[in-house]
Amino acid sequence: MDSDVADAGAAHGAALPAGGIAIVVGSSGGIGSALLARLSAQPRFNSVLGLGRRGSPPLDLTDEASIAEAACQIQALGADVRLIVDASGILHAEGLSPEKSWRDLDAVQLAKAFAVNAIGPALLMKHFLPLLPRQGRSVFATLSARVGSIADNRLGGWYGYRASKAALNQLVRTAAIELGRRQPAALCVALHPGTVATSLSSPFVKAGLDVQTPEQAAGRLLDVIDRLPPGSSGGFFDHRGDPVPW
Ligand SMILES: NC(=O)c1ccc[n+]([C@@H]2O[C@H](COP(=O)([O-])OP(=O)(O)OC[C@H]3O[C@@H](n4cnc5c(N)ncnc54)[C@H](OP(=O)(O)O)[C@@H]3O)[C@@H](O)[C@H]2O)c1
Repeated sequence: MDSDVADAGAAHGAALPAGGIAIVVGSSGGIGSALLARLSAQPRFNSVLGLGRRGSPPLDLTDEASIAEAACQIQALGADVRLIVDASGILHAEGLSPEKSWRDLDAVQLAKAFAVNAIGPALLMKHFLPLLPRQGRSVFATLSARVGSIADNRLGGWYGYRASKAALNQLVRTAAIELGRRQPAALCVALHPGTVATSLSSPFVKAGLDVQTPEQAAGRLLDVIDRLPPGSSGGFFDHRGDPVPW
């Protein structure tokens, strides 16, 4: 384990049953590739699959058919899907940068942030939550961001990223309620990874911030997932396992 925080809390959660499939969506990204490497190095799952736009089958969050096809191919494997971590997301891209002022608000940029950060993960939940087994513990975790917290918003700015992550949090909460009726031992949560040195964060990291390597963040996130107590479904937790206010 990377963190003593995880050691301290390990007793509170329950590890996922051994075997089955673990999936990382956004496995080409900084955190996603570290999650994939860490999970692949563990003997606990029978197979660990990475999904993304450049994978096979390709999964593009802005193309529901590609999400449905990937879910269909995984279901056809016939094994229990025990863990799905969605590590996809967008903060900046060509023609997209976080807004400093309402003067920067742009309909196309806002729609892009919502498409990747909220609508895409919603469609992932639509097609992948039904794959979680009815028996035994399983987890769907999507990477949100503390800046999506409305209660925690003291600095302003980053309208599209904040609002799309806030929307993601509400989608997680809503899906968790439905999931709880169908698969009571399954958990659906939003996680804040902390500040992590990736291409997403690199233009914005300021001196003095506690910046983790992707490997550290992956270790902490997987520890948090293992420690999620029953009843935590629908929650929003940081990389230490502490709840983040909505
Ligand atoms: N890094 C941080 O400090 C930090 C802090 C708080 C929250 N987060 C959150 O953590 C998550 C991972 O961030 P990261 O830092 O690892 O970012 P990253 O290195 O930029 O990775 C982002 C991932 O999202 C994928 N993606 C983007 N658009 C997609 C689409 N349309 N369809 C499918 N996949 C798509 C990328 O795939 P391609 O390779 O195909 O582009 C890549 O795999 C994000 O949700 C982010 O908001 C990160």
